[in-house]
Amino acid sequence: MEARSSDLTIEFRSDRPPADAFEAVVRELEDGLHRAGVAFDARPGGVVRVGASPVGMVTAFEPGREVTLRWYAMPWGESKDATVRFRLEPEGVGSRILWSVSGWAGLFSESPDAFPDWVAAEVIPSILGRLLPEAVGDWFTDRRVRRPGGEEARKVYRDPAFHWPNFLLILDHLPLTAADRLLEVGCGGGVFLRKALESGCRATGVDHSPQMVSLARETNASAVTAGQLEVLPGEAGQLPVENARYTCCVSTGAIGFFPDPLEALTEMCRALRPGGRLVVYAGTPAMKGTPAAPEPVASRVRFFEAAELAELARHAGFVEVRVEEPDMEPYAKKAGVPEEALGLFRGSGGSLLLLARKPVRPSDAPESR
Ligand SMILES: C[S@@+](CC[C@H](N)C(=O)[O-])C[C@H]1O[C@@H](n2cnc3c(N)ncnc32)[C@H](O)[C@@H]1O
Repeated sequence: MEARSSDLTIEFRSDRPPADAFEAVVRELEDGLHRAGVAFDARPGGVVRVGASPVGMVTAFEPGREVTLRWYAMPWGESKDATVRFRLEPEGVGSRILWSVSGWAGLFSESPDAFPDWVAAEVIPSILGRLLPEAVGDWFTDRRVRRPGGEEARKVYRDPAFHWPNFLLILDHLPLTAADRLLEVGCGGGVFLRKALESGCRATGVDHSPQMVSLARETNASAVTAGQLEVLPGEAGQLPVENARYTCCVSTGAIGFFPDPLEALTEMCRALRPGGRLVVYAGTPAMKGTPAAPEPVASRVRFFEAAELAELARHAGFVEVRVEEPDMEPYAKKAGVPEEALGLFRGSGGSLLLLARKPVRPSDAPESR
């Protein structure tokens, strides 16, 4: 990183060819700005907004080469616009990536001394803050599993080979028919849904990762077109679905990432019809640090004891609650897990399977007894 006058340039190399690097960077930028409450319309002439207020605009957009934004001056005093540029140059089979922010001292022209103080007080600490192990660990956890995004995550969730044993285990405990309406919470790339839809059931997948929502729609494109499946962006604690719409609900490998598992289970119960079935796959602390939950994920995912998970389900309003510690090996064999990896699935390997029902009559609910 090199600073010249008030310009900031960040330059590095990537193994990705420019077309791929461009697509990935624009997607990450859009996603990151979205999380910061900024809408970035990534196209020529697109506007950058916070709520209804424009804060910038796209002045150049050349896929594979460049994006330039004009960042608007402060809405007071003598402040001047700044320029943010992202440029790509081919280098061998990869690319040279250049980010620059220029003219940003002009944003402070009303009080020129403020710029160096603002860089020291706001810019450098926020960069360093994002570089703390805690923050980088959070970022990796999000990107890989908690809110998957990026090329590698899309590849993994398009074909989650090591999740198939869980999918088969769940379907073994949840026979589906064409009469079922299935809800999956934290559906990732939609591969479980694809298998479940073979029963002829109708389904809804919910996930809070925009990249997983689009991947799940891609994975199940014909079911989406046929109206057999909808995939919705949404939070587990505030499911974007009607009350009592589903005959069954599944969540696999996701509940440990939900900020409030009780709230999520309560939402699942709300979404189920009376008598509706619940199947949730989760992990016990025995999974911590194994290839299924290595660091930095291991310290950021919640593991459950069987009794604790059962108690949460009862609190959420479920009845006929059972938690099993299934032997995963037969499912791993059935899923075609290679011989050398079967050891990871011997015994329960820290797997928990929660099975429950929504009461048929409200008077059967645990809290009304
Ligand atoms: C480890 S992945 C599992 C994906 C899929 N169920 C599978 O087994 O392949 C966890 C998924 O849960 C989603 N997720 C995590 N927290 C969530 C939340 N609070 N609300 C909705 N989805 C969430 C993530 O975005 C991710 O797609």
